[in-house]
Amino acid sequence: MEQLWYLWVVALFDLVLGFAMNFVNHQYVKRYRMELDMRRWKQPPIELPVDYRLVAWHGSLVSAHAEVKYSSFRDEIDAQVFPCLGNYDGCHRLMSEIGTKEGFLPEATWLTEYVGADPSKAEYCGTIQAVRAHRSRASIQNIGVTPFHRGRGIGTALILAALLGMQHVAVPCVRLEVTAENEGAVRLYRRLGFQTVRTIYKTVELAHSEPSR
Ligand SMILES: CC(C)(COP(=O)(O)OP(=O)(O)OC[C@H]1O[C@@H](n2cnc3c(N)ncnc32)[C@H](O)[C@@H]1OP(=O)(O)O)[C@@H](O)C(=O)NCCC(=O)NCCS
Repeated sequence: MEQLWYLWVVALFDLVLGFAMNFVNHQYVKRYRMELDMRRWKQPPIELPVDYRLVAWHGSLVSAHAEVKYSSFRDEIDAQVFPCLGNYDGCHRLMSEIGTKEGFLPEATWLTEYVGADPSKAEYCGTIQAVRAHRSRASIQNIGVTPFHRGRGIGTALILAALLGMQHVAVPCVRLEVTAENEGAVRLYRRLGFQTVRTIYKTVELAHSEPSR
C-alpha cells in the first residue's frame, strides 16, 4: 500500500516537472502584421546596383530560392521562430510548397543575382515570394538577402519588384509579418509604406535550453 502511494507521488512529480519544462522551453515572440494599400501605391523606380540583376520565377529555380533563403535566414532570429528556415532541407520544402500553392504569384516572386565583372563568380543573393491568400489580399512570404550583399538596396528592389508584379494582377492589399526584434526589416517595410495593423505574439519552442552561466 505504501509502495503504491510512493508511485503516485513520483508520477505526479513527473507530471509537474514535465509541465514546468514545457513552460521553460517556450517563449513568446512579438511580431507585427503590416499591410500596404496598393490602391494608393505609387511605384517608385526600381534601382539595383550595376552588378546585380533581377531574375523572374521559373519552376527550375526552386533550389536556387531555397539556397538563398537558407543563407539569408540561418543566423537570424526568424530561424528560431520558424525552425525550417534554419536548415537547407526545410527551406527547400518550404519553397516547393510555396511554388505549388493555389494562390502562388509567379509575377511577384524574384531572385537577385550578383553578376560582377567575373562571370564565374555570379551568385544568387536575394529572394522574395508572394501568395494570393484571398481575392482582396496577397502575402509576401519570405524576403531574404544573403549577409554579404545587404545594405545595397537589394531588399528594397526585391520588394518593389514583387509589389509591381502584384499591381499587374490587381492585388488591392499586400500583407506581411515581421518579428519586432528584426528592426532593420521593420524599418525597410515602413520606409516602403507598410503600416502595422496588428501585433501578434507567437509561441516559440526553443531548440534547447542553454545552461545558465
Ligand atoms: C531585411 C533584409 C531583407 C534587407 O535587405 P537589404 O538588401 O539589406 O535591404 P536594403 O539594402 O534595401 O535596405 C537596408 C538598408 O540599406 C540602405 N540602403 C539601401 N540602398 C542602399 C545603397 N544603394 N547603398 C547603401 N545603403 C543602402 C537602406 O537605406 C537601409 O538602411 P536602413 O536600414 O537604415 O533603413 C536583409 O537584412 C535580410 O535578408 N535579413 C535576414 C532575413 C530577414 O530577416 N528577412 C525579413 C523577414 S520578415
